[in-house]
Amino acid sequence: MRKGFFACVVIVFVALAFSLPCAAQETDLAPTPPMGWNSWNHFAERINDKIVREEADAMVSSGLKAAGYQYIVIDDTWAGQRDAQGFIHPNDKFPDMKALADYVHSKGLKLGIYSSPAAKTCADYTGSLGHEEQDAQTYASWGMDYLKYDWCQSGGSVDDMKAAYTKMHEALLKTGRPIVFSLCQYGWHKVWEWGASVGGNLWRTTGDISDRYFSMAENGFNQNGLEKYAGPGHWNDPDMLEVGNGGMSEDEYRTHMALWVILAAPLMAGNDLTQMTPYTIELLTNPEVIAVDQDPLGKQGYRVKQEGAFEVWMKPMADGSKVVGLFNRQYTTEQMTVDFSDIGLSGDATVRDLLLHEDRGTFTDKFSAYVPRHGVVLVRIRAK
Ligand code: GLA
Repeated sequence: MRKGFFACVVIVFVALAFSLPCAAQETDLAPTPPMGWNSWNHFAERINDKIVREEADAMVSSGLKAAGYQYIVIDDTWAGQRDAQGFIHPNDKFPDMKALADYVHSKGLKLGIYSSPAAKTCADYTGSLGHEEQDAQTYASWGMDYLKYDWCQSGGSVDDMKAAYTKMHEALLKTGRPIVFSLCQYGWHKVWEWGASVGGNLWRTTGDISDRYFSMAENGFNQNGLEKYAGPGHWNDPDMLEVGNGGMSEDEYRTHMALWVILAAPLMAGNDLTQMTPYTIELLTNPEVIAVDQDPLGKQGYRVKQEGAFEVWMKPMADGSKVVGLFNRQYTTEQMTVDFSDIGLSGDATVRDLLLHEDRGTFTDKFSAYVPRHGVVLVRIRAK
């Protein structure tokens, strides 16, 4: 009996000793959803060294850095050729990656890069197939802090996919440099069920977003049900933000931001940070809204009620309050209501509007508000 007990203690201790460093690293890397900027949505193949520096400057001067944005990610089209030893070199848009990383780091920011587990990336630039360790070492030697790894031109089964992501994850670990690992394979094969087990700190759950309400809404509202797979260190990623790119109305961009923070989604701005209107800056940096996304409890929100085009979503917060989004997916302004019983509250509660920075007052059993077409009212509700 005693012997058995001690054997058990030893087994548990050994198991913990081996599993904790991995778990700890994953959580240390992305304890809350990563925040930053990615070149693809706005610049696509036009990205170059000069633009990356300008975006890093603007991330600081616009207040995005102070609001929590940290990563500057160079997406597809940076890669050049391999040399005789197989080491990858950037193309002539990026004369010196190490110098660029030093520059971005000097601003107190972090730099990310992009590759694919195939011979070619999505946009037909050199991928990492057969050179995973070498590439991971190269990224680390340049000073990269983040890798987006895009399936795209790869083929094969779900097991091939898992193996390819595991291979790069292990290569990244081997470098000894903390590098956030962002899986991009559009949600195929229910990646949310296994993304964390292949080392992903975030994984795309959708196809590519575009700067249109219906694309954004499809990506965002379809996340319902995936909430149990997200948490500190590993996040569902409904794709980068389009806020500020010009294709949606102000209310539609408010919906985009409100939905992403309720989803505890990574907040990767996808606009030109050097050309932002006061509206865009306010929306991207609103501290009360960012705090929803970055809440330490790390719970992804979900839909608590749907009546046709009216959806009520809720995110539980670490302090016991509930953040509620009243989303109107219709074409006319309508009154919407959240019943406190639907969000685990009853009686009196105070309601604060997070987009308007306004206390709405104390309400009993329910709260109602007029919500504009394609818009949202985002409130934080606290039991009294
Ligand atoms: C895919 C990804 C995008 C972007 C492009 C680059 O479409 O989903 O986010 O990285 O490739 O080619």
